[in-house]
Amino acid sequence: MAAGLLAQGYVAQRELATAAFLALRLQRPLFLEGEPGTGKTEIAKTLAALLGRPLIRLQCYEGLDLAGAAYEWNYARQMLEIKLGQLAGDDLFAPRFLIPRALLQALQQPGPPVLLIDELDRADEPFEAYLLEVLSEFQITIPELGVIRAAEPPIVLITSNRTREIHDAVKRRCLYHWVDFPSAARELEILRLRVPGAPERLSRQIVAFIQGLRALDLYKLPGVAETIEWSRALLELNALELDPETVQSTLGVLLKYQDDIARVQGSEAARLLAQIRAEQGHG
Ligand SMILES: Nc1ncnc2c1ncn2[C@@H]1O[C@H](COP(=O)(O)OP(=O)(O)OP(=O)(O)O)[C@@H](O)[C@H]1O
Ligand SMILES: [Mg+2]
Repeated sequence: MAAGLLAQGYVAQRELATAAFLALRLQRPLFLEGEPGTGKTEIAKTLAALLGRPLIRLQCYEGLDLAGAAYEWNYARQMLEIKLGQLAGDDLFAPRFLIPRALLQALQQPGPPVLLIDELDRADEPFEAYLLEVLSEFQITIPELGVIRAAEPPIVLITSNRTREIHDAVKRRCLYHWVDFPSAARELEILRLRVPGAPERLSRQIVAFIQGLRALDLYKLPGVAETIEWSRALLELNALELDPETVQSTLGVLLKYQDDIARVQGSEAARLLAQIRAEQGHG
């Protein structure tokens, strides 16, 4: 599994690869929680590519409801057919009037897709109750039409940034994995894959600097997404290694809160750089 993911450009921790493997074998949803920018969304895309399955993505947001997530009735078309007199009374809720959204699409798709329910913590809690039927039975009950069940269960990934706790009932139906920041070695591997043009020495310094930042008490720690972005930014600037001026002028790629930037700028950055240089030596 880890090797398959790697071939698609995703560097997975062993525990994550195992969790993904088991989710597939046991046909259970995989629930991924973790810091922002640590590859939660990306692994769904990677799995879809690896398995040759379509990816259906449900981005959660406040106020997301059935109509946005599962299905809607096409009222306009219903009205039109009523006006045109094309409709026998009980036909009003015929399948042709149904507009499937992500969840229903995932159940109806022949050859099960990867269904990504992204950032579930952004949706309201009542929505989770609705998800239970989908996650445990792989079916949706439409009062006017009956039960629609997947011929083969989709591969479900749920992510959360843990801005609030997801209900136990949802978690119990899933395999759970906490996506942590990668180790320095793994992060360097990710950089090699994602920013192949970067000089090795620079990449090592970038990783060491970012790992150092994550040890600080900042409001928002930089994720892997920021590591990649910073590396690309430094390449654009033709930097060969980290120096105080370059770090100073590019901190906004890494840190998105002025308090964090103020905290790191200057002496803290200089201290990290000195430490990195001491560890890596000159030359
Ligand atoms: N293990 C990894 N291997 C390869 N690339 C990775 C890995 N982790 C993160 N990335 C890269 O980092 C970027 C951010 O990842 P992703 O969007 O999946 O994070 P996320 O955990 O979903 O973040 P958020 O919580 O902000 O949605 C992606 O562009 C992805 O390419
Ligand atoms: Mg994401």
